[in-house]
Amino acid sequence: MRPENLVEEAKRKAAREAVRQIEDGQVIGLGSGSTVAYAAEELGGRIKTEKIRVKVVPTSYQALMLAINNGIPVTSLDENPRLSLAIDGVDQIDCHLNMIKGMGGALTREKIVASASERLLIVADWRKRVKTLGENNHPVPIEVLPFALKPVTLKIMELGGKPIIREGGGKVGPVVTDNGNFIIDAYFGLISDPESLERKLKSIPGVIETGLFIDMAETVYIGEADGVKVLRRKN
Ligand code: 5RP
Repeated sequence: MRPENLVEEAKRKAAREAVRQIEDGQVIGLGSGSTVAYAAEELGGRIKTEKIRVKVVPTSYQALMLAINNGIPVTSLDENPRLSLAIDGVDQIDCHLNMIKGMGGALTREKIVASASERLLIVADWRKRVKTLGENNHPVPIEVLPFALKPVTLKIMELGGKPIIREGGGKVGPVVTDNGNFIIDAYFGLISDPESLERKLKSIPGVIETGLFIDMAETVYIGEADGVKVLRRKN
């Protein structure tokens, strides 16, 4: 199999395993990204063939479109503020199951939906596992109120980060999130204490949310060339 097909197959296997956890009657969070796209396909298939009744709260316009295109009924946090579980992707994950998310720009809604869920199931291929968050010069995405862009940028620099305003494809200028905000990708190098960095970033006025997800994942499905590895949070 070509390497790119191996990766896609690994994503699909991880997604399928997570979707098996969904039970009839549940209301769940639907994350964003290319791995979650496979989860939406799998869930749409189960709704059609097994006739399970499941509704999703989408975490982005992409997730909303995925739900609609796969015949999955959609609901909102207003109607369902407590969710049984959420399925989402990840950009980097360490051995404590702390994560960096948000390369798709949906981090704020993803974190809200994850925290409204009893269980957060993460789906990914093997490339997302790292020893230390920030490895390979990976940034922390930060959603910022446009009014506060410059002061937030300076505060990130004071914390030792290199902030880059994310620019879009198909549009000139900054990426505008589903919430009407900007994204700063902040490069901190290796993040030895993600919890402390998260606290500091969240205390900056104008920071809406960060892509550091600390202590949130319950179970992680890692698609590998020869199967799916399941990692569970130790309490
Ligand atoms: C979007 C995210 C995605 O879950 C993350 O970027 C993973 O995406 P993919 O499955 O395409 O690698 O956090 O904000």
